[in-house]
Amino acid sequence: MTSDNKAVPRHVAIVMDGNGRWAKKRFLPRFFGHKQGVDALVKVVQACIDREIGYLTVFAFSSENWKRPSDEVSGLMGLVLAAVSRYLARMGAMGVRIRIVGDREAVSEKLRNAWNEAEALTQHNTKLTLSVAFNYGGRWDIVQACKAAMAAGVPPDQLSEAKLSEFMAMSYAPDPDLFIRTGGEVRISNFLLWQVAYTEFVFSDCLWPEFGEAQLDAAISAFRDRDRRFGGVKDAGGSLSAA
Ligand code: IPE
Ligand code: IPE
Ligand code: MG
Repeated sequence: MTSDNKAVPRHVAIVMDGNGRWAKKRFLPRFFGHKQGVDALVKVVQACIDREIGYLTVFAFSSENWKRPSDEVSGLMGLVLAAVSRYLARMGAMGVRIRIVGDREAVSEKLRNAWNEAEALTQHNTKLTLSVAFNYGGRWDIVQACKAAMAAGVPPDQLSEAKLSEFMAMSYAPDPDLFIRTGGEVRISNFLLWQVAYTEFVFSDCLWPEFGEAQLDAAISAFRDRDRRFGGVKDAGGSLSAA
């Protein structure tokens, strides 16, 4: 494996956190923070395309977010439906392929249909794959991959890291190179667990609705300064030694 972080990251994963605090600072209901968060996401999608980042994965709703007050949960569901109808055509025109990762069983049929439509309409786009993690949990993902492997009849002695990866929700994407969390908390909150084994982490105090090109560039610049060794050692010339 080579140290490839002098170019742009191929895959950026973002925990879009801080919407509620952004609204609170403005004496607005939390919903307005989420609404502003959708607009921030649309701008970041364009910024990723401009920087030739191939994969953007965003944490939109965690498997634990059902614990929130029911009016916030239903507000979020409505907002997502509205965002799909408002932005789907634009995303399609931008060359974005949309994929949803997470447990779809628990969401409403209306939302499931909207996800299916978004995926179907954009399936041939190749500029950027935008994966929206919705009702997603990293532990859920590992368990569903194990179940799927068992259902496919993979015998225990054939189960390897590479084999299990084939059953993970994001098997179509390379592992994230760069993980960004906005909002100041320094934790994963059950986002991609399996996939971030060697991802570089950047934590930003910026609240998600205020995140834009400058903050993305700062995170990419921090990523480029990292020394990715993947457990190996560097020789004097800075390349990773071959095994
Ligand atoms: C993240 O913002 C969005 C979702 C979890 C849906 P929050 O709603 O967690 O905002 P804070 O962390 O309370 O500020
Ligand atoms: C993580 O943020 C989930 C999303 C951004 C969708 P949370 O706000 O739910 O995480 P905690 O509760 O601070 O860990
Ligand atoms: Mg939060």
